[in-house]
Amino acid sequence: MENERKLLSGAMVTLALATATLVMLPHIQLSDVPPPEGLKPYTEQQLRGREVYISMGCVYCHSQQPRSQSQAPDFQRGWGRASVAGDYYYDSPHLLGTMRTGPDLFNIGARQPSVDWNLGHLYDPRAYTPGSTMPAFQFLFTLKDQADEGDVVVKLPPSHQPLDKVVVAKPEAIDLVQYLISLNHTYPVHPGVELPAPAEAQVQTASTQKASP
Ligand code: HEC
Repeated sequence: MENERKLLSGAMVTLALATATLVMLPHIQLSDVPPPEGLKPYTEQQLRGREVYISMGCVYCHSQQPRSQSQAPDFQRGWGRASVAGDYYYDSPHLLGTMRTGPDLFNIGARQPSVDWNLGHLYDPRAYTPGSTMPAFQFLFTLKDQADEGDVVVKLPPSHQPLDKVVVAKPEAIDLVQYLISLNHTYPVHPGVELPAPAEAQVQTASTQKASP
């Protein structure tokens, strides 16, 4: 009985210490971090798009956390400066992600701000990046004989355009792309340190990029 009591109290102390250092301390440290000046809150539409991003499982292949130059060549990959806690002020839950089957998307809005490109790439990734392993999200679009008024028609490369049909984006696809385009964290967070915008850094293409954690 004596030994069991020791074992149990040992386990409780370990658990309490772990909770304090891994949960409570970070919460206290991060709870009053203000948003950086350049960060805007999401609009209603972007928040809807964020829900689509979560429900489609984009986070299982894409991270949103460029790392510092001392840890990984993320900046040279064109993914932007290392993120800081305040960058995630409006993100609940955060979508840091752990897998990088595809590129980090924290600055995709700066790197690829074109609505047409993003819609077309979601409809058919291989039309833009030959050999891409990203799934095509074609159920976010409708094929129609002709576009009706107000339809957002996807402009695909002519070689990938379906014959005699137009590809029309559903509201989910339009919201998702607005969310992607809002992912632009290129504002400065370290006063005095000037870094070129991600688009100017060397952008690696999918064919040369290795999936790295
Ligand atoms: C199975 C893994 C996988 C999933 C799931 C996935 N992607 Fe991708 N994604 C990739 C790969 C690989 C690439 C690089 C090749 C390419 O450009 O298609 C990529 C590229 C991209 C790019 C272009 C990035 C750049 O730097 O040019 C965007 C934008 C993107 N994905 C958005 C999304 C969104 C939004 C979703 C969810 C709807 C999603 N992806 C789901 C694997 C994935």
